[in-house]
Amino acid sequence: MYDIVKEFHSGWAYIALFLLIVAVANAAAGLFSKKEFTPRDRKIALFGLIGVHTQLLIGLILYFVSPFGFASLGQMSDEMLRLTSLEHPLINIVGIALITIGWSKHKKLITSESKFKTFSIFYGVGLLLILSRIPWNLWL
Ligand code: HEM
Repeated sequence: MYDIVKEFHSGWAYIALFLLIVAVANAAAGLFSKKEFTPRDRKIALFGLIGVHTQLLIGLILYFVSPFGFASLGQMSDEMLRLTSLEHPLINIVGIALITIGWSKHKKLITSESKFKTFSIFYGVGLLLILSRIPWNLWL
């Protein structure tokens, strides 16, 4: 069980990060080129949202089956265990919450500029938070 969930979380991370980076780049490009927000832009942002939500679900399961997740919570002096049991899950949940808020907010906005701006900020900050707490040496 642990190995399968871990492999899935590890592999899906490439897809989730790729989709999120594309969504941020597309929003920034749309904002700076002052183009119209189209159904294609909406779909790109939606794929970014689905990517990180799937990663969140797998992460939540992994947290309770991994020896480096909940089982290691409290071992604050060990940098790697602090990262996998506390910082990575917590900061990534905050990042995914920001991305979700950005998605909800864009629905209420009218102008293309405000939609691209909202995605650039919320998805952009979400991406930076996620990247700041990846256990890179476990992954790469
Ligand atoms: C977009 C969000 C996330 C990304 C991109 C991500 C990515 C990763 C990556 C690349 C690893 C290293 C995998 C490896 O060892 O090959 C990892 C490990 C881990 N992640 Fe996430 N993660 C995310 C969210 C979460 C969340 C929300 C949780 C828990 C609630 C979580 C729990 C864990 C745990 C416990 C590990 C350590 C697993 C182990 O080595 O046993 N992750 N994550």
